[in-house]
Amino acid sequence: MEKLDMLYEGKAKQVFKTDDEDKYIIYYKDDATAFNGGKKGEISQKGIINNKVSAVIFNILKKQGIPTHFEKLLSDRESLVKSVEIVPLEVIVRNVAAGSMSKRLGIEEGTILEKPVLEFCYKCDELNDPIINEDHIQALKLASEEEVHIIKAYTKKINEILIVFFKERSLNLIDFKLEFGIHKGEIVLADEISPDTCRLWDVNTNEKMDKDRFRRDLGNIEEAYKEVLSRME
Ligand code: TMP
Repeated sequence: MEKLDMLYEGKAKQVFKTDDEDKYIIYYKDDATAFNGGKKGEISQKGIINNKVSAVIFNILKKQGIPTHFEKLLSDRESLVKSVEIVPLEVIVRNVAAGSMSKRLGIEEGTILEKPVLEFCYKCDELNDPIINEDHIQALKLASEEEVHIIKAYTKKINEILIVFFKERSLNLIDFKLEFGIHKGEIVLADEISPDTCRLWDVNTNEKMDKDRFRRDLGNIEEAYKEVLSRME
């Protein structure tokens, strides 16, 4: 597989074309941003950790019947994925109130939600990824009604699988963000699932084991990311 031109550079990853038009290579960087790039830094080894964590999770989801873009790990920082066109939505699931939901709605962080809360955000940096509903998705033509139906069904199943997966590793899955893409006309799970895109609290100590350590300057960021990976190996 030959790595060709860079197609896109995001805040944490680069995407490259390959000599196979059905495949891309993703390169995971150590760069970390928060608040839509308002806070910038680096988390040493993060690219390596997120590449591996994401591979483990995508393989588990694949086995459970969720179609994903993930093909295989190529190196410490690179994965081979199916070429997808990203649906411009951030799909957020919350099992416990935290972060922007707590702030926006005045719900104390750590409040258990009776059933998972699903949120959609419009992936648009210029607008700061605003929260939107299903009518907005149709109005803006971001995805069809059928695609939204499929995305919701996959998301619900992914949450059920990941709650159990993390609980077995002594981590509570507080919330997380998914992105989907379209490959050959089909919706597939894309992007990454890692401590950058999930809130994970240790079940015994409630210690934050995710990017909130960077967002909130809590220290021991690398250690937390490494600990999450070590609980998966
Ligand atoms: P929030 O509470 O800041 O809205 O974040 C909810 C979840 O989504 C949390 O697990 C972090 C994740 N997330 C991302 O992966 N990327 C983002 O740009 C944002 C805002 C949140």
